[in-house]
Amino acid sequence: MKEIRIAPSILAWDLGNLDRAVRISLEGGADQVHLDVIDGHFAPNITFGPGTVKALRKKCDLKFDTHLMIDSPHLYVDKFLEAGSDLLTFHAEVLDGSHFDDLYHTVHAKGKEVGLAIKPKTELPEWAEGRLDKVSTLVVMTVNPGFSGQSMDMSVMPKLQKLSSLVSEKGLSTDIEVDGGIEPENVEEVVKRGGNVLVAGAGVFGKEDPVKAISVLRERALQVNP
Ligand code: DX5
Ligand code: ZN
Repeated sequence: MKEIRIAPSILAWDLGNLDRAVRISLEGGADQVHLDVIDGHFAPNITFGPGTVKALRKKCDLKFDTHLMIDSPHLYVDKFLEAGSDLLTFHAEVLDGSHFDDLYHTVHAKGKEVGLAIKPKTELPEWAEGRLDKVSTLVVMTVNPGFSGQSMDMSVMPKLQKLSSLVSEKGLSTDIEVDGGIEPENVEEVVKRGGNVLVAGAGVFGKEDPVKAISVLRERALQVNP
């Protein structure tokens, strides 16, 4: 079984005080910080860009998991690398094999990781299946991109199971990150289907004690995948 990792999504915190969100992630023992970049085209919200990532980079040395929900990632990949992202996740919906290869080379040349995300209704494209060995993290979205605080779309569960099995059949160690609506109550459903990186916005920052919420999620996950 793969290592459980908890990734608080700071989009769910006060966007005027992201400094605190990063500090909470550190105090709670999070494994990585999930940074949702949305351009108002790919998804109906506008969040923050490389400048914010760079400013937060100075505050902590946790792994920065940057989820690019943008139409033209090739225009910004260098900026996010310079800003200090460690894992850059691109959406399969805006790529094809050759675009992916270009992005992969750019990210790899800097010694950083590439993630590939799919929306709830998207199946993994064929070009992506053949390139899974280049993907450190497969991000299975369980809400439509745009906003924190939505409930998990449970109809994604069979796909999550199928993709986890595909990764193990190929003998790969690709992390399976689940993004959207994670709460203590549904952690078991996700982890038993092979999810090992748990993104949580409202499930951490919407709680009265967000520092503790990180360990609550981890404990739940470890009950299924010790
Ligand atoms: C949605 C983002 C998610 C979201 C997670 O567009 O990709 O990362 O912020 O927040 P919760 O856990 O509240 O669904
Ligand atoms: Zn996200």
